[in-house]
Amino acid sequence: MKHMISIADLSREEAIAVLATAEHMAQTQSRSIRKLPTLVGTTVVNLFFEDSTRTRISFEAAAKRLSADVINFSAKGSSVSKGESLKDTALTLQAMGADAVVVRSGSSGAAHLLAHAGWIDQPIVNAGDGAHEHPTQALLDTFTLRRHLRPGEPEAGLDGAHVVIVGDVLHSRVARSNVLLLTLLGARVTLVAPPALVPVGASAWPCEITYDLDEALGQGPDAVMMLRVQRERMVGGGFFPTAGEYSRRYGLSTARAAALPEHTRVMHPGPMNRGFEIAGDVADGPRSVIVEQVSSGVFVRMAVLYHLLATDSREDAR
Ligand code: NCD
Repeated sequence: MKHMISIADLSREEAIAVLATAEHMAQTQSRSIRKLPTLVGTTVVNLFFEDSTRTRISFEAAAKRLSADVINFSAKGSSVSKGESLKDTALTLQAMGADAVVVRSGSSGAAHLLAHAGWIDQPIVNAGDGAHEHPTQALLDTFTLRRHLRPGEPEAGLDGAHVVIVGDVLHSRVARSNVLLLTLLGARVTLVAPPALVPVGASAWPCEITYDLDEALGQGPDAVMMLRVQRERMVGGGFFPTAGEYSRRYGLSTARAAALPEHTRVMHPGPMNRGFEIAGDVADGPRSVIVEQVSSGVFVRMAVLYHLLATDSREDAR
């Protein structure tokens, strides 16, 4: 594994290996001293062209717990806003001695370009590219889910599990990465969205698609993953009639959550619109693993950085 660009690049064995390393990282994080010397002397650059709170902080925490130095490069107020190209930014980072670059961009394919254009040699981690992929989010979601559904089995997949993903699939890189990873690990996935929020081409994805949330929830899934309605990407509107109508048909209300089987877990990648796609008491309720997803994010990102920077595979790939 040289980069972490897309779940589509991973084999089942590679995905399980990262998740198993993440379990190991999680164990180290319950010790009183949580910092490991693994990446001492390396520099991880967080290159963020889009706003982000939890993902950037999570990568920063992960790199620091492994003793890497972290440089946060936010495109706002940088030379990028003066028109500097991705190529020049990459050349600058290379010249400054970055050992890995974590990149978030509004453009689908940005991480792939950075990894493969030949401007920079270092491992690239995709922290979200447009509506394309967000592989570490899918890994942390799977990690969290596996702990609940397959406790004590760090080498297990999610064979036979059923996950329902609900909401703004059209704008969601989280949904795409999760469909790929969950199915790679043997789970069945059902997407639920209003017709205008289903991407063209989703019918070719390895999952079922329905417009009816109650029908999907009636199947008694093992997990329900709610997606944020990404209003900042809905320029021009017209994706659904009104917020109230969306909430009534596609929101995870208290009543809908109460009707789920007891073991069903509720997930959300954050940031949440409480009271819109998910009721506040459901987000805070006993079946919610939303806060745990945030902790899992640090373990999984530690594992990804470890696989890219601390092993011989980096030398082999060159
Ligand atoms: C997601 C993202 O940015 O793709 N959030 C995240 O990484 N935690 C989803 C979202 O913004 O709704």
